[in-house]
Amino acid sequence: MTTPVLSVRDLSVSFRGDARTVHAVDSVSYDLAAGEVLAVVGESGCGKSVTSMAVMGLLPPTARVEGSVRLAGRELAGADERTLGKIRGKDIAMIFQEPMTSLNPVLTVGRQITEVLRRHQGLRRREAVERAVELLTLVGIPAPRSRIDEYPHQLSGGMRQRVMIAVAVACDPSVLIADEPTTALDVTVQAGILEVLQSLRERLGTAIVLITHDLGVVAELADRVLVMYAGRSVEEAPVHELFAAPRHPYTSGLLGAVLRPGGEGKRRLPEIPGLVPSLDTQPDACTFAPRCAYADDDCTAARPDFETLGGTRAGHGGVHAVACRHPLPLTPTSPEVMQ
Ligand SMILES: Nc1ncnc2c1ncn2[C@@H]1O[C@H](COP(=O)(O)OP(=O)(O)OP(=O)(O)O)[C@@H](O)[C@H]1O
Ligand SMILES: [Mg+2]
Repeated sequence: MTTPVLSVRDLSVSFRGDARTVHAVDSVSYDLAAGEVLAVVGESGCGKSVTSMAVMGLLPPTARVEGSVRLAGRELAGADERTLGKIRGKDIAMIFQEPMTSLNPVLTVGRQITEVLRRHQGLRRREAVERAVELLTLVGIPAPRSRIDEYPHQLSGGMRQRVMIAVAVACDPSVLIADEPTTALDVTVQAGILEVLQSLRERLGTAIVLITHDLGVVAELADRVLVMYAGRSVEEAPVHELFAAPRHPYTSGLLGAVLRPGGEGKRRLPEIPGLVPSLDTQPDACTFAPRCAYADDDCTAARPDFETLGGTRAGHGGVHAVACRHPLPLTPTSPEVMQ
């Protein structure tokens, strides 16, 4: 793998409340190369959004963030707001899970885009408006010249999502974090948004962190997948390898419905029996053990390391890493066996 454009190391986030501390993210690491799409999957509450907000430096002051976030070699963790303000929206941008909270309701669509362009690229008003029209065209908004004077509430959900993408990509960021960019949109609109992301990667070499519950979207867009469980990384692998031969029992459970032979399979993540553990402790054990059919005393005696299968270092492209004392065996159809 070439030098990563984004490198996250041992990122941990906890929120201190009055009654208890929530450990939302626990030592997550990943690398992202230019033009690469990394999907992040895992059940609701496993820390996908908090990890991304920590990367962006957007968590509230109640959050305690540890670890390292390097963008093109430059450390962002602990950087002051002035420094982050110059980088955010320019070199790294995020499409948020909820479009209405990230668009400003009192500014027109055009203004939200031109502000970013004027701040980061120093464009003059007229140039910025022309570029905003281009961006709205790029994200598939019809009649962009008239849409530009509308306010977010005048647009449909799908259109708002597209505007948010236009704002996010206005300055051609090298990294885009897309948090559930297509959830809550109907299927045709979803397809349009995915095409936009795909073309950004192809035309501009944008690296994308794609958070999604939709395994169809993962299969279509991702190069690699990071599986999270209760704030921790449990498995990372190239997408075809993860689908063909998941090694962590949790991943296997997630993929179960998709891989069921003969069946159409559900595209969304299925339910796995048992409860996700509470995040107010960081047990020195596998957090999935209470729900795992293969768990034994080894699993509850100590926390399993996130280790690569095959001897290369964790967190780097192309490798298959898993945090499990008893990884599942390779199946006869898995790529490693077929080689
Ligand atoms: N500001 C906050 N203060 C306290 N706890 C928080 C805060 N934000 C998130 N959390 C907690 O952190 C944990 C991880 O939340 P996160 O939003 O990252 O989950 P997620 O994986 O994105 O889930 P979903 O798939 O539902 O979007 C949850 O337990 C959540 O309640
Ligand atoms: Mg989320």
